[in-house]
Amino acid sequence: MSLLQCLVLIVSLSIKTSVSSAHLNIPRLSPNGGTFLRGNYFAHDQQKTMSAADPINDFETFYYNQTLDHFNFRPDSFSTFQQRYLINFKHWGGSNVSAPIFAYLGEEEAIDVDLSIVGFLSENAHQFQALQIFIEHRYYGKSVPFGSREEAFQNANTLGYFNSAQALADYAEVLIHVKKKLHAQHSPVIVIGGSYGGMLASWFRLKYPHVALGALASSAPIRYFDNIVPPEDGYYSIVTKDFKEASETCYQTIKKSWSEIDAIASQPQGLSFLSEKFHTCRPLNKSSELKNYLDSLYSHAAQYDSPPRYPVTFVCGGIDGASGNDTLTKIFAGVVAYTGNRSCYVNQPKNLSETGMGWSWQTCSDMVIPIGVGNDSMFPAYQFDLKDYIKSCKAQYGVPPRPHWATTYFGGHDIKLALERFASNIIFSNGLRDPYSSGGVLEDISDTLVAVHTKNGSHCLDILNANSITDPGWLVNQRKIEVKIIKRWIAKYYADLQAFKK
Ligand SMILES: *[C@@H]1O[C@H](CO)[C@@H](O)[C@H](O)[C@H]1NC(C)=O
Ligand SMILES: *[C@@H]1O[C@H](CO)[C@@H](O)[C@H](O)[C@H]1NC(C)=O
Ligand SMILES: *[C@@H]1O[C@H](CO)[C@@H](O)[C@H](O)[C@H]1NC(C)=O
Ligand SMILES: *[C@@H]1O[C@H](CO)[C@@H](O)[C@H](O)[C@H]1NC(C)=O
Ligand SMILES: *[C@@H]1O[C@H](CO)[C@@H](O)[C@H](O)[C@H]1NC(C)=O
Ligand SMILES: *[C@@H]1O[C@H](CO)[C@@H](O)[C@H](O)[C@H]1NC(C)=O
Ligand SMILES: *[C@@H]1O[C@H](CO)[C@@H](O)[C@H](O)[C@H]1NC(C)=O
Ligand SMILES: *[C@@H]1O[C@H](CO)[C@@H](O)[C@H](O)[C@H]1NC(C)=O
Repeated sequence: MSLLQCLVLIVSLSIKTSVSSAHLNIPRLSPNGGTFLRGNYFAHDQQKTMSAADPINDFETFYYNQTLDHFNFRPDSFSTFQQRYLINFKHWGGSNVSAPIFAYLGEEEAIDVDLSIVGFLSENAHQFQALQIFIEHRYYGKSVPFGSREEAFQNANTLGYFNSAQALADYAEVLIHVKKKLHAQHSPVIVIGGSYGGMLASWFRLKYPHVALGALASSAPIRYFDNIVPPEDGYYSIVTKDFKEASETCYQTIKKSWSEIDAIASQPQGLSFLSEKFHTCRPLNKSSELKNYLDSLYSHAAQYDSPPRYPVTFVCGGIDGASGNDTLTKIFAGVVAYTGNRSCYVNQPKNLSETGMGWSWQTCSDMVIPIGVGNDSMFPAYQFDLKDYIKSCKAQYGVPPRPHWATTYFGGHDIKLALERFASNIIFSNGLRDPYSSGGVLEDISDTLVAVHTKNGSHCLDILNANSITDPGWLVNQRKIEVKIIKRWIAKYYADLQAFKK
């Protein structure tokens, strides 16, 4: 698998078809985009990335007997499950010199995926003499409680242990266990994560400062809760900006396409006309099937709008360069440009992925990220309706979400005021083309709580495998700045450790 895997579909379309609210689904928060689209855009980029990342077989796999429920003492809370983590010892300077530990905190997918695309740890392990650990998030990959995925995802009784607070406690237990095993009590730990995992990394530093010296939180929208960011000024306003900047005519074409789709769909035979026009894999039953597909495609292109090929430019190249003149011919040309020449598009039969299943529960429990669409968007306006959202989640899982829990437990409101007098050693990195950057920390909070962003960067770009040939200077520079900051934290820690030992 290569870096290019990151450039795929964010939204699990099967969830998005749910009832009334078109934007019920929250685009997945992951360094990796999945494996849905794979077309022209990719064909040119299939060469192996020029990354200095260590091969996967340099990692040894371990399992930790993890506690099911860290937060109460009922007998059934003591049951355990096997949590997977992987260690690479190759560059480690050892416990005698308290050499550092880089710990990647997994997000909503199997950890194998991260191992192949997240290069930041192994590309820098040598110069830090660092141990590398990748820890899988509970309920994903091989770290599933209750013996099987089927059992674990049965209902809210078994899913109830699936939340961010439990995941952070898992990471703390694993890291303390590993440090003890390696007699590395004084080795400084730097936690690293991307997207939802980036949020976990920053929260881990805030909640477990005795375990982690610092955090690199890449594309972590920790302010995207509880309307800290007005829902209509967030995600879709950046998608719109990206397209508008890439091409004004492309933006205009997309903007007017929605009402044309609706107009056609409302006519007799309209849906079969649209099905034919878009070569759908199965006939459209509702125009929303097509609109959701297009919405996901544009969002995905924006979220993963990374060099060297920049998918938004690619989609707009298709739209602007279409041989036909009418709006829908142009739109379809954009689809083909991005997904490639296929036998069919839209309504493709597919099973809900592991990430789709897991993220759906997470966004219906503690990770409620309110996303709406403003009036000046290229998408149809949509006001996020919390009541509606709660109702849909409750219908699906039998329990309502807790939309205010994230800010109660982690904070987020007036973040500068709260953190400048309390926290330290977190890098909030972002690419401003990433729609999720709208919920990120984009200004320095203090000397050690720093925002490092790039204007043309995309989701999690800084921690993904480097490409020595195609990475632009601003990206190389962003990574250098991050490394320098982490070096400074560690140097200060070693000085304090010396003094402490005396
Ligand atoms: C982990 O749990 C398994 C199964 O319950 C048990 O066989 C094993 O000994 C445990 N390992 C440790 C290190 O406690
Ligand atoms: C670490 O220190 C111990 C005790 O001083 C010593 O016995 C051991 O050989 C050292 N290990 C390494 C790898 O230097
Ligand atoms: C459309 O409706 C028919 C009949 O209810 C159903 O068999 C088919 O699967 C639906 N198509 C899609 C794409 O959901
Ligand atoms: C393109 O559209 C314009 C009006 O929108 C029309 O005048 C022109 O004939 C069309 N060109 C082609 C090639 O269809
Ligand atoms: C797309 O594929 C079809 C057959 O599946 C082929 O006839 C057509 O020429 C292809 N178009 C392009 C642009 O490659
Ligand atoms: C969905 O899963 C079923 C059962 O595992 C499998 O038979 C089927 O081929 C899958 N469908 C797709 C589109 O992957
Ligand atoms: C869009 O504009 C309408 C009318 O001007 C207003 O009622 C509505 O609240 C606006 N919606 C959003 C999402 O700003
Ligand atoms: C960002 O991309 C735009 C459009 O491709 C380009 O004009 C601009 O120079 C880039 N900015 C930076 C800082 O690289």
